[in-house]
Amino acid sequence: MEQREKREGWHSGLGFILAAAGSAIGLGNIWRFPYITGQHGGGAFVLIYLLCVALIGLPVMLCEIALGRHTGRNPVGAFRRLNPDSCRLAHLFGAGMTLCGLLALFMRSWGWGGLFILIGVLIFKYRWTLVGVMGVVAGFVILSFYSVVAGWTIGYVFKAATGQLAFETVDVAKESFGAFITHPGWAILCHFLFMALCVAVVCRGIQGGIEKVSKVLMPLLFMILLALIVRGLTLPGAMAGVRYYLSPNFKLITPQCILVAVGLAFFSLSLGMGAMITYGSYVAKEQNLFKSAMAIVGLDVLVAFLAGLAIFPAVFALGFQPDQGSGLAFQALPAVFHHMPLGAAWAFLFFLLLLVAALTSGISLLEVVTAYWVDERRWSRRKATLVFGGCIFALGCLCAVSVANWNHIKPVEQALATLFGGVKDSFFVTMETMADWMLALGGLLIALFVGWVWGVRRAVDEIRQGSDNFADVHLWSVMAGLKDDPSHNSDMHVFTLASLWGVFVRFICPVAIVIAFLNTIGWLELKGPEAKPAAVEQVADEPVADESASAIRNESHESM
Ligand code: PHE
Repeated sequence: MEQREKREGWHSGLGFILAAAGSAIGLGNIWRFPYITGQHGGGAFVLIYLLCVALIGLPVMLCEIALGRHTGRNPVGAFRRLNPDSCRLAHLFGAGMTLCGLLALFMRSWGWGGLFILIGVLIFKYRWTLVGVMGVVAGFVILSFYSVVAGWTIGYVFKAATGQLAFETVDVAKESFGAFITHPGWAILCHFLFMALCVAVVCRGIQGGIEKVSKVLMPLLFMILLALIVRGLTLPGAMAGVRYYLSPNFKLITPQCILVAVGLAFFSLSLGMGAMITYGSYVAKEQNLFKSAMAIVGLDVLVAFLAGLAIFPAVFALGFQPDQGSGLAFQALPAVFHHMPLGAAWAFLFFLLLLVAALTSGISLLEVVTAYWVDERRWSRRKATLVFGGCIFALGCLCAVSVANWNHIKPVEQALATLFGGVKDSFFVTMETMADWMLALGGLLIALFVGWVWGVRRAVDEIRQGSDNFADVHLWSVMAGLKDDPSHNSDMHVFTLASLWGVFVRFICPVAIVIAFLNTIGWLELKGPEAKPAAVEQVADEPVADESASAIRNESHESM
């Protein structure tokens, strides 16, 4: 039984691309990307985001898919298979961690000290397999809060369908949203429904579950998105929204912006925790990995871009403020839709869109955890999804009831405060911050592993299967129009896609991620001039939401 399931693969290449794009396209695209773009200089930020996606996202995506297909395993199994018996780089990390731990203990920070030393020792023992373990744990952590937010979308789909989203002003919408998400009963019920949907799909396996659902939901997502765009753009006054969203304002491009773009690219492309390793493990050898990675990245960027086009024209046409930060989706848009003809129907479609996007991402997060128990622990898929879906639901309940504060889970707060010297954010935000760190660290370690430990040469051998052009077409020759000239395709010319990718994986990606990572953990505050979008100044008097805070973080603060 498990044997067969382990070997299961995607039915078709398109199925893989749609499922992987489904994982990538989620709340990150439809919710975070539009408002962050609006706040960071519109078209100029889009350009920078595209560069980050192409220069960091695409190479790391290819690393993950190649690792997955080569090993045919979940992230833990993949790293375990390729783990060298001894590795200087791993020992260096282990020693560094242990040293940090000792230092922390010396400074009487018992929780951090203990944690670092434990990680240091584990690195010595398990080396790179630990990166896979971290991916599975990240899947667990991310899904537990992602599912809470996705649960809100279920609630809002229901509310829209029953005409409960009729808000005259954003303030009324805000109040209603705050009451909804801080009501433990509703929050937990919606979270449960979302987890149940994920479990039902993942339980049915790769072809019968994930692939089948993705093939229906992804076209549906595009159709809803297009309908919303046409509706928004045909409203009188919509062009002001397009201008706000896309007019490039290079004055707003600061170092901070670039780092925001890197972080967004990682989250949005589902990179850094092995989701793409897991999905890659079900890919056939004939499939062209390079083209697939390009298609997944392309679709992800396209949806992010289109989501902005669906939202801003409508917001402007109806005279609302665009600078709501993350509140845009749940607070401003219901009020915007209410003022449109057939508003309830458009609100219903929008929240359905969010739900569809979140569902295909939630599925991939649960699949990472499931694949580990199926591959490594020989559990049946059904048992693994039910047990871990249940565990994630339980952890998510803590998030759901602690969106605003720790009141419902005081003992957890006290335990954390004793160990780590105080907690400043809600449990929800703490989990989200932890996920941010894990993704950045995971992405860095995956690039380092492929670039320096597994080796670019072996990775390229894997990618070459099914995409022979990857290593053998000489880019200079193609660009110069000398593609078919034999002398220009000799070994003398070594500028191929593969060599370009190798340089990125070994040097450019790790360095860029380290910079973004240091920024995430607050050790490097690359500050530019205080940015306030010019467009916002023209149209709004209210302050711009803190752009560095992530979507969910803002959401929970606003609701407090
Ligand atoms: N990419 C998803 C989004 O944009 C989130 C996600 C992150 C999914 C990591 C899987 C893994 O919403």
